[in-house]
Amino acid sequence: MAQRLTVIGTGYLGATHAACMAELGFDVLGLDVDKKKIDRLAAGDLPFFEPGLEPLLQRHLASGRLRFTTSYEELAAFGDVHFVCVGTPQKAGEYAADLTYVDAAINSLAPLLERPCLVVGKSTVPVGTAAMLADRLAELAPVGEHARLAWNPEFLREGFAVKDTLHPDRLVVGVRSEGPEQILREVYAATIAEGTPFIVADYPTAELVKVAANAFLATKISFINAMAEVCEATGADVTKLSEALSHDDRIGGKFLGPGLGFGGGCLPKDIRAFMARAGELGVDQALSFLREVDAINIRRRIRMVDLARELLGGSFTGRTVGVLGAAFKPNSDDVRDSPALDVAASIRAQGGHVTVYDPQAMHNARRAQPDLKYGESALDAVRGAHVVLHLTEWAEFREMSPDTLATVVAERNIVDGRNVLDPEQWRSAGWNYRALGRP
Ligand code: UDX
Repeated sequence: MAQRLTVIGTGYLGATHAACMAELGFDVLGLDVDKKKIDRLAAGDLPFFEPGLEPLLQRHLASGRLRFTTSYEELAAFGDVHFVCVGTPQKAGEYAADLTYVDAAINSLAPLLERPCLVVGKSTVPVGTAAMLADRLAELAPVGEHARLAWNPEFLREGFAVKDTLHPDRLVVGVRSEGPEQILREVYAATIAEGTPFIVADYPTAELVKVAANAFLATKISFINAMAEVCEATGADVTKLSEALSHDDRIGGKFLGPGLGFGGGCLPKDIRAFMARAGELGVDQALSFLREVDAINIRRRIRMVDLARELLGGSFTGRTVGVLGAAFKPNSDDVRDSPALDVAASIRAQGGHVTVYDPQAMHNARRAQPDLKYGESALDAVRGAHVVLHLTEWAEFREMSPDTLATVVAERNIVDGRNVLDPEQWRSAGWNYRALGRP
């Protein structure tokens, strides 16, 4: 375990990777260009919500195995293996991925590389990026070809990031030669020893594994949500349908949860970037189904707004709407492309008085949608509401008592956007319970 590791970019992915690599016994130096973020991390204060990560961060700041910097000079001098974990968001106004941060990371690091080292890309990038970056790295680095590149996509889920990083389903590495493969086998030795499959591929295959996985997951969710649309037209119940399908182990029950659909910093932008890249490669037809996957997903948000309006007799004007949930999914404070926040903003734009509550995402939600009103608690958010919308399935919301809520709302209308509340329980407490894809 001679290697010293660095991690460039300390967001959800990078901060988790850095702390987990320290947990595996490495000396790790994390870098971000955002000084405020680095100051907080260095003080043991995680700048976002991720269960189990803050204790790990604090433990390895204390053990001395984990440090943070804003200096690329320090980073280059310290590390033998440099992980690139910066974001690749959607470009404004188009589908393609914005590679500004990946380019900046390589351009800042490469000219400082004076001894042999391995740069490992973990960010999700369009297929073809790694080959281009490997050439640029060798060209810009003083050590030339001895600055090598590997691509090692990351599959962690927010909310389970620590577990997914320490005990992943599989490790995928894209390499051009055997040296980098051996180095990564050493870095991940503990994980490999647990029996985790270690898949060695070329660059484009490794890059594609990540986007193909996300495209498949998005397709599965949109499939069941398309079935929900058909259920709505026929009076069928999509939750029963999904349950029945899940017993076929070729289909399986995971990611077959019907509801408001997917959001977050990965699935939506990754399928769009994949379509954009396929277009550049002349194979756009191969992925044209993803356009439909995206459209089905967006239609769920519209349907939710329509259903709420319907319950209010056809208009939001002057009516009060209590929204439970702002994060794109539970156990996260991430509101990027959040279906919940999107629905809340759209109802407000249509004249509704909307109050939102989320157990963890209030700060991010306020920043993203400053014009919405925010409650202090779930009860506070639904006070005086003519309709309650359950949009992110936090355990706290699942456990709410319909009787308690009934004491503060103006009218007992609830729409379950995640199909996890018990309709019988709510109906027997006098609520008008509605859900997506159910009668
Ligand atoms: C996802 C992938 O799972 C992960 O492997 C990849 O590296 C990054 O993108 P994440 O964005 O953290 O991870 O969220 P995930 O748990 O996959 O959920 C994605 C979205 O799908 C959420 O908005 C969730 O609410 C929604 N979803 C999930 C459904 O609508 N129905 C389901 O059955 C499952």
